[in-house]
Amino acid sequence: MKEILEELRISSREAISQADGIDALEALRVRYLGKKGELTAILKQMGRLSAEERPIIGQLANQIRAELEAELDARRDQLREQALEAKLQEETLDVTMPGAPVMLGRRHPLSRTLDEIKEIFIGMGFSIVEGPEIELSSYNFDKLNTQEGHPARDRQDTFYFNDDDTLLLRTQTSPVQIHTMETTPLPIRVISPGRVYRKDEVDATHSPMFHQVEGLVVDRGITMGDLKGTLNTVLRQLYGPGTVTRFRPHHFPFTEPSCEVDIQCFECGGKGCRVCKGEGWIEVLGAGMVHPRVLEGCGIDTQVYSGFAFGMGLERLAMRRFGISDLRLVFENDVRFLEQF
Ligand code: DAH
Repeated sequence: MKEILEELRISSREAISQADGIDALEALRVRYLGKKGELTAILKQMGRLSAEERPIIGQLANQIRAELEAELDARRDQLREQALEAKLQEETLDVTMPGAPVMLGRRHPLSRTLDEIKEIFIGMGFSIVEGPEIELSSYNFDKLNTQEGHPARDRQDTFYFNDDDTLLLRTQTSPVQIHTMETTPLPIRVISPGRVYRKDEVDATHSPMFHQVEGLVVDRGITMGDLKGTLNTVLRQLYGPGTVTRFRPHHFPFTEPSCEVDIQCFECGGKGCRVCKGEGWIEVLGAGMVHPRVLEGCGIDTQVYSGFAFGMGLERLAMRRFGISDLRLVFENDVRFLEQF
């Protein structure tokens, strides 16, 4: 029986030292020390021993039990330590590793152009105002001196919401002039950027939705000279200090007199090329002195006050600025296109 115990002592020590996890170790504890374990089984046979042998074997068995318990505990501590060590190793942060690249977006060419325009006007003391995109016909047309029957009101061109044509998607930012004059104390110096809508087929130069920037100045003694001075200053900041401008007579219902403003082609210097389509000039905006009927409709005394207004297309400006040849690219939001700016 002594040999059996000694054998158990050696084999269990071996098994415990090779246990590779807490679970395996627990299984060994049961295998040796459990109720049906190997050591217990041996002790149950003690009855067969002689009176002299019994205390010696009993003592040995107890000693082995104590040893086993100590070994099991020591191995368990060792395994826990190893597990912790492995975990720490695994979670180590190597601060010298190159970081994972973060994909940064960038501002849309339209936003960049608009921000630039805002900056210029804010620098000249203008405020920025907004108006509704869903508009009353009276604001989009009537109050802008554009009466019933005017071709601009055609159902072919305008998105109306109802059969009596009183509610529409604004076709221009000019109605913001009316909202501003109706609600803001004089003097007024504002620009108003925003979306406008027209029933146009999509092609390289047309879109049923595009952006305009409206401008309005109303004060005592405002003249065409203020209009020209302001717009020249703005255009030279946008297109460069050497920019040559031309104010060409035109007609808009809500201004009198009205003009269109051209810049001399920056590509060919006025000789005529592909960019200016042989004209030597590029049209950049519409403007004029606010029609007295429009001012009076907003309760402004035209004996004391006068004003000028202008409107420009944002897309055309941005496309020229960034050399974009097709308007559709501006709205498709293809990352391969947007990444280039
Ligand atoms: N609303 C005009 C358009 O859509 C642009 C315009 C022209 C605005 C002259 C103005 C202006 O304020 O004075 O074509």
